[in-house]
Amino acid sequence: MKLMVGITLLFLLPFCASQTSVHIDSTPKPSTDGVIQTTTQSNVSLVCILTGAPKDEELVWLRNGAMVKLNDENKQSGSSVCISPVIQKDEGATFTCQLKSNSSHSASVTLNVTYCPDVSGSEEVTLEEEESLNLQCDMKANPLVTSVSWKLNGTMVDLSTGGFIISNDGINTKLYVKKADRSMHEGEYQCTVTSPICESLSKTFQVTVTDKTIKFPLMPMIAGLVVVGLTALLAIVSRWRMIARCFK
Ligand SMILES: *[C@@H]1O[C@H](CO)[C@@H](O)[C@H](O)[C@H]1NC(C)=O
Ligand SMILES: *[C@@H]1O[C@H](CO)[C@@H](O)[C@H](O)[C@H]1NC(C)=O
Ligand SMILES: *[C@@H]1O[C@H](CO)[C@@H](O)[C@H](O)[C@H]1NC(C)=O
Repeated sequence: MKLMVGITLLFLLPFCASQTSVHIDSTPKPSTDGVIQTTTQSNVSLVCILTGAPKDEELVWLRNGAMVKLNDENKQSGSSVCISPVIQKDEGATFTCQLKSNSSHSASVTLNVTYCPDVSGSEEVTLEEEESLNLQCDMKANPLVTSVSWKLNGTMVDLSTGGFIISNDGINTKLYVKKADRSMHEGEYQCTVTSPICESLSKTFQVTVTDKTIKFPLMPMIAGLVVVGLTALLAIVSRWRMIARCFK
């Protein structure tokens, strides 16, 4: 059996060698379906190998279909690109190496960039009574987050009272209250986001609700003063005319 495989390979090899082919060597290695598993802050290096064609045939690299700029000495077989460091935006990016003269000779790999949601630390939030309360936490992650929760003073936010609205759009999770009321809305809030590969991540918000201040209506005041001033000026001007006329 082994012998037969060997013979078959011997027959195939010369045939393969005569075919032009492009393939990508990568660190780390891709899975069989051409997906490279990586994380943010890591490095990925890709090398394009050309076989069965003149060594000086030019190669081009594309990232999601857009040309990657290469140095002149990096355009033949062995041409390499480095993604260093890998960032969130590289998630799902496809890198293609192809023959410049014939794009049907090409090879591609796709990055699967895993990352945790950016949720940590604490923030102080101060607002006045009757103003709206807006808190938000990041929930973007790969793989996707499995749960999101909001707590107030250590207990789950009760959506049936207090006018709380919680919304998740896949990028952020938001807690909203239209009109803040100190007795219901002041306290320590905490958002917790859980993803399959990251532990639960939390961020706290220390929310203080202050007394409502009477907002001084500055602009209408200025407009009012201008009108009063102009009226007075016009009155003086017309009065002055009458006086002036008397003296004629
Ligand atoms: C490009 O390569 C393909 C596959 O080998 C071949 O069929 C085609 O004729 C080539 N095109 C040109 C313009 O050389
Ligand atoms: C990307 O990697 C994650 C974590 O290993 C995995 O759950 C997910 O299925 C992968 N996605 C693709 C498209 O390979
Ligand atoms: C949360 O706790 C703080 C401090 O103990 C307290 O002042 C506040 O009223 C509490 N908030 C609610 C909504 O119970």
